[in-house]
Amino acid sequence: MGFTEKQEALVKESWEVLKQDIALFSLRFFSLILEIAPGAKNMFSFLRDSEEIPQNNPKLKAHAVKVFKMTCESAIQLREKGQVVVGETTLKYLGAVHVNSGVIDPHFEVVKEALLRTVEEAVGKDKWNEEMKGAWAEAYDQLASAIKAEMNTNP
Ligand code: HEM
Repeated sequence: MGFTEKQEALVKESWEVLKQDIALFSLRFFSLILEIAPGAKNMFSFLRDSEEIPQNNPKLKAHAVKVFKMTCESAIQLREKGQVVVGETTLKYLGAVHVNSGVIDPHFEVVKEALLRTVEEAVGKDKWNEEMKGAWAEAYDQLASAIKAEMNTNP
């Protein structure tokens, strides 16, 4: 079965919660990334030179928001078209940025885990369930596959 309206609604609904405190959830997202993979610190320009995760850093927020928002957009596309379609220019850019930053395929699993845990904490135990988790996971996986495919394509 394809991506359902219910799944799309669950992702949209929880993105609305994340949006209410981007500063907090961006920070939480990056703390989780570093908790899962401490070595990832050195890839991010805004993390490698500081001891602590910087509060209110625009680049940190931008990356977190991109991941949250593009995953939400993927959920919408999955329901509407049955697949994730990233514009060619955007995809080329995403491929290049990540290859140049030293990102490799397994890092996408780290970010996935951090994303799911951030959403879980944001919506709270009462709302979080397997269905919501599955919807975010699928939307993220499809987006990540598109980026990884581009990263692994020789120019
Ligand atoms: C940069 C999106 C996954 C590490 C960027 C940029 C975008 C982006 C749009 C450009 C800068 C910006 O606008 O913030 C995404 C999306 C992802 C994803 C949508 C997953 C669906 C990852 C993963 C890693 C990663 C898995 C590695 C753990 C980086 C790094 C940069 C970057 C190191 C350069 C940022 C800097 O140093 O300023 N990403 N990213 N990203 N991304 Fe990702």
